[in-house]
Amino acid sequence: MVNIEPTGEACGAIVTGIDISENLTDELMYQLTTALYDHRCIIIKNQDISKDAYYKFAKHWGNLILHVLDYLRMPDYPEMMAIGNTEEKDKDDAIRNGAAVWHTDGSYIEDPTTVTMLYAKKIPKTGGETLIADMVQAYEGLDPSLKSKVDALTAKHYYGRAQFDKDEHEPVPIRTEKQANTNDICEKPLVFKHPVSGHKSLYAVAHSPFQINGFTEKETQVLLAELKSHATQSRFVYSHLYEVDDILIFDTLSTMHRAKEQMNVAKNPGADNARLLWRLSTKGIPFIYRK
Ligand SMILES: [Fe+2]
Repeated sequence: MVNIEPTGEACGAIVTGIDISENLTDELMYQLTTALYDHRCIIIKNQDISKDAYYKFAKHWGNLILHVLDYLRMPDYPEMMAIGNTEEKDKDDAIRNGAAVWHTDGSYIEDPTTVTMLYAKKIPKTGGETLIADMVQAYEGLDPSLKSKVDALTAKHYYGRAQFDKDEHEPVPIRTEKQANTNDICEKPLVFKHPVSGHKSLYAVAHSPFQINGFTEKETQVLLAELKSHATQSRFVYSHLYEVDDILIFDTLSTMHRAKEQMNVAKNPGADNARLLWRLSTKGIPFIYRK
């Protein structure tokens, strides 16, 4: 029987007692999605399942997304990405450490990512945490005058980093010219209302936004820096230290996330520092809410 317990930290809940490779009932999906929307992220423990079973499970959460970086796609499962430090592609610092910075998956596409899941297949002996910032709490914790100000604002986003964000090392992901040309600029509100839960949250205030509409470049930089430092305070952040066979799922619309630290290349897949996460992301709402 499913058991759902809050982590006791800023956000997140731990899910035990289920095997997601078994038939997933609507009732269980309601329990899991409710837990996700209540806690911003859930960690389903002890899932020793096949790639195929993981893929089928993820399809319940929305329409699977093909990532713009096609070299991350897996043969046979193109929407699945191998995130880590064990493969040939991971020798490139920008690929291996592209997520070691606060960001929101898919904030740069018109139909944004709604759920991201990371399935831990290899974990390092120490470290390797993923940090999740609760953007609902961050929004609610804004000073009232700032809250009403950001409520009315929209920002332009583009894949890649906000060039002015100098407070941390941000490797720039490598794009082909074709990928660059297929990623248009898109606009998003700074405050997003979740399509299922109705929660209002700060949305994607780091990495992809580069222009707040109606603001000068300097005004944009000042406000985004203020919102990012507010939203990523430790009181809003859950740090997940993986065990093998954890599946971390986060509500992408209501969170920002990052790898806590940069990784070195693993000498071989069995090395002490080897890390491998299988990532899947979805757009749209879970299918049980479309009925
Ligand atoms: Fe990410």
